[in-house]
Amino acid sequence: MKNLKLRMMMGAFLALMVMSGKAQKWEHLADTPQMGWSTWNKFQGNISEEVIKGIADAMVENGLRDAGYTYINIDDCWHGKRDADGFIQADPVKFPNGMKAVADYVHSKGLKLGIYSDAGTGTCAGMPGSLGHEYQDAIQYARWGVDYLKYDWCNTTNVNPQGAYQLISDALRAAGRPIFLSMCEWGNSHPWKWAKEIGHSWRTTPDIWCDFDSLRVFEAGYTQFGVMQCIQFNDSLRQYAGKGYWNDPDMLEVGNGMTDNEDRAHFTMWCMMASPLILGNDLRSMSEATKNIIMNKEMIAIDQDTLGIQGLHYCDKDGLQFWFKPLAGGDWAFTILNPTKQDITYALNWQDFNLTDKEVSGLSTSFDTKVYQVYNLWTHKMEGKTNIKNKTERKLMVKARDVVSYRLIIKP
Ligand code: GLA
Repeated sequence: MKNLKLRMMMGAFLALMVMSGKAQKWEHLADTPQMGWSTWNKFQGNISEEVIKGIADAMVENGLRDAGYTYINIDDCWHGKRDADGFIQADPVKFPNGMKAVADYVHSKGLKLGIYSDAGTGTCAGMPGSLGHEYQDAIQYARWGVDYLKYDWCNTTNVNPQGAYQLISDALRAAGRPIFLSMCEWGNSHPWKWAKEIGHSWRTTPDIWCDFDSLRVFEAGYTQFGVMQCIQFNDSLRQYAGKGYWNDPDMLEVGNGMTDNEDRAHFTMWCMMASPLILGNDLRSMSEATKNIIMNKEMIAIDQDTLGIQGLHYCDKDGLQFWFKPLAGGDWAFTILNPTKQDITYALNWQDFNLTDKEVSGLSTSFDTKVYQVYNLWTHKMEGKTNIKNKTERKLMVKARDVVSYRLIIKP
């Protein structure tokens, strides 16, 4: 009986696919980069219904939901076995009430639930993968009320990346519930060149680790990136991102052990690069400093700006990096990043930064003809204007592994 029902369902979906031609990904789920939280960076496999519920509560109580963080994403290691019909089940010990109960709880808090699978035979932690079960898994996620799928790339020998991601995208579409597709093949097959219509974001780097500037090399043959390595790699791909499809330099490590200034630089640069903001710390117990960083609504607004342009790494000078991000309505975000271990004093002259973003937006800063008000995004204070008549240089101290970051506000 169950088998018959399953076959009928599959048949109906296939017919739908044939009638409608190739499915399109779900639209308008990523008009701005996704925001939320994921289990992986802090908890890895040590997850449970209790943890997820506690995080959902903390998300609301700390004001994070109202600041825009929407998704609670369960990463690897939630899986139990497939049932007799091949439908995947949640681990009965970690999730004794099943995944639907978790989704219902998360939804009752005004949040959304994300889940994780893999295009291969098994996930990176050796749980069941979706290969050969794509449509069935999509149906199961939709039944549970899942809103987001991160789809990983371990154990995929002989699997074609474009084919595999198209397949799961089609399956999600056919399952009938809008589900965000976060692609995670680490940039191996350059998804930015082919995945715009398939997924909503794609990883551009190997996994991040909680360090500001170093590679962590594992004997097993893989490497993790520090914050600076993620930035450096993601930087070159800005022309491929835009409304609906974002470069993803991996989840945030804010609050997981770096210094406050490193965390501030990390968060700022993710916002400058219009990156997904997926928190990775324990929201139930965080310091005021961590909270102030991840709750900086004016900085979040830079990330979420509706123009949807990934920031431009304009130049390097005196050990500093200069980044510009055009914003809707004519404003710009401007960040000076100090990746070094020394504080650096810099004499800022706006006229040095008359630039046109030829590659992506076509917009110009035009400091020679326009006057902006200078708003400091971390001190939350106005710092005068970019007036051409005011030729005196502004001396700035950019602390080691920190940023100075402004919103340049154009007055009509
Ligand atoms: C891969 C991904 C990580 C995480 C782990 C889980 O390494 O890139 O983000 O999902 O798998 O095993």
